[in-house]
Amino acid sequence: MDMVIGADGDSSVCERCGGTGWIVIGEDAYHCDCHSGMRLNQLEREANIPARYSHCSFLNFKSDNNTSLQRGLEVAKDFVNMYPANRDGLLFMGGCGVGKTHLAVGIIEEIIATKGASCLFIDFRSLLEEIKETFQTSSEGPSEMDILGPVLETDVIILDDLGAEKTSEWVLDRLGFIINHRYNHQKTMIITTNFLDPKNEKSNLERATETLESRIGVRLRSRLYEMCKLVEIDAEDFRKKTAKKRATSRSGRPRNRAY
Ligand SMILES: Nc1ncnc2c1ncn2[C@@H]1O[C@H](COP(=O)(O)OP(=O)(O)O)[C@@H](O)[C@H]1O
Ligand SMILES: [Mg+2]
Ligand SMILES: [Zn+2]
Repeated sequence: MDMVIGADGDSSVCERCGGTGWIVIGEDAYHCDCHSGMRLNQLEREANIPARYSHCSFLNFKSDNNTSLQRGLEVAKDFVNMYPANRDGLLFMGGCGVGKTHLAVGIIEEIIATKGASCLFIDFRSLLEEIKETFQTSSEGPSEMDILGPVLETDVIILDDLGAEKTSEWVLDRLGFIINHRYNHQKTMIITTNFLDPKNEKSNLERATETLESRIGVRLRSRLYEMCKLVEIDAEDFRKKTAKKRATSRSGRPRNRAY
């Protein structure tokens, strides 16, 4: 691709289309070769992946010696391969720091790069804050529907940390609207949650008290069963594990000899 470095030194402009993405010959207009690169950059920007997760990819996801992580990675890769022929979503369920968000972000990175579909990372709590702001500001700011537009229309969304927000009728109403709209329009959702499904063993008090169902309600939970394949991840908190490793390698270092 013929690129010219702009006067400011850091931007590059395509020589053939002048950065418009179009080449006009007579009355016809064609996409310039640089267009797909531009589209990719635009999709990346619009996906809104937080800087904290920008490193996440399938390539740097470590799954050695843990069948549940291996399975999670495999399901994530299959999902990408099958999209959009299969639009069923995924629901990653498991403890804190086990790599649920990492896998979800890895998926949308791959979908953007290989399928050119639009993707959006949504932190549900921030979304609710943004919506609340529209109630306070004057009519000049974005409306609630302006904010919900991309949430409803984007091809693939990640709803990260579902159930973590404080639930109220208002919150469940918004969540229900999003989920039902996407269900009706066959749009894909990738969900991560720390809340589990109820297990049969009654002795497990932790699981019996707070479940995904108790957080979002029976109806929404059952709608998610229809929309998403459940991927349970049972692994150690990755951050704790790496911290432990660091600590052991430090204590394993030879100490100064005492003479
Ligand atoms: N299996 C893994 N391989 C590589 N990095 C991981 C793995 N699991 C988690 N991480 C990293 O640990 C941090 C926490 O993971 P995250 O996906 O946010 O966990 P969760 O969403 O399950 O709470 C992230 O920086 C992530 O990149
Ligand atoms: Mg997470
Ligand atoms: Zn061009």
